[in-house]
Amino acid sequence: MKKILLVISGGIAAYKSLELIRLFKKAGDEVKCVATESALTFITSASIEYLSGNPLRTSLDDREQEMKMGHIELARWPDIILVAPATANIISSVANGLATDLAQTILMATTKKMVFAPSMNVRMWENKLFQNNVAILKSNNVEFLGPTEGEMACGEFGLGRMMEPQQIVKSLIKK
Ligand SMILES: Cc1cc2nc3c(=O)[nH]c(=O)nc-3n(C[C@H](O)[C@H](O)[C@H](O)COP(=O)(O)O)c2cc1C
Repeated sequence: MKKILLVISGGIAAYKSLELIRLFKKAGDEVKCVATESALTFITSASIEYLSGNPLRTSLDDREQEMKMGHIELARWPDIILVAPATANIISSVANGLATDLAQTILMATTKKMVFAPSMNVRMWENKLFQNNVAILKSNNVEFLGPTEGEMACGEFGLGRMMEPQQIVKSLIKK
């Protein structure tokens, strides 16, 4: 049994994070979730909490949790932190050492294995400035699963689709 901290950021593939939670739980893993403000415009906190069986954290402005330094507890807790879907914004923020919300702060404060499953438009993924940020993370032992190639919600075709949940869970089971 692994302890997975699933960080859900605000992309169109956020619905796939619900399937990820279900599959991790089926595999016997414990799952805690953190969602960005943007992620909650795509999926509901209720779905995340009912599927994971744990309260969702979304903000640093949470007196009860943060009186005991909840963000540091969450940064220490997991065996693996999986960011899925990982937006261009969260990837670039972490690559540049930013900590402007709960999700980014945890990612900055952790020493645990970090895995990103990016999801974005193909032009965003191929953007040279953005790829510099991906390279920074890769050279610092951050693992990337995907993106894969295919048709996108915006109607374009190319690299940028989030890897399917089943494939992600299969890759992480080996770790
Ligand atoms: C309909 C819609 C779909 C979006 N899909 C994506 C996406 O797939 N990937 C991405 O990087 N950003 C996407 N964005 C932009 C992000 O939501 C935006 O950059 C946001 O600030 C990300 O915040 P977060 O990284 O804190 O979750 C989308 C925005 C909208 C309105």
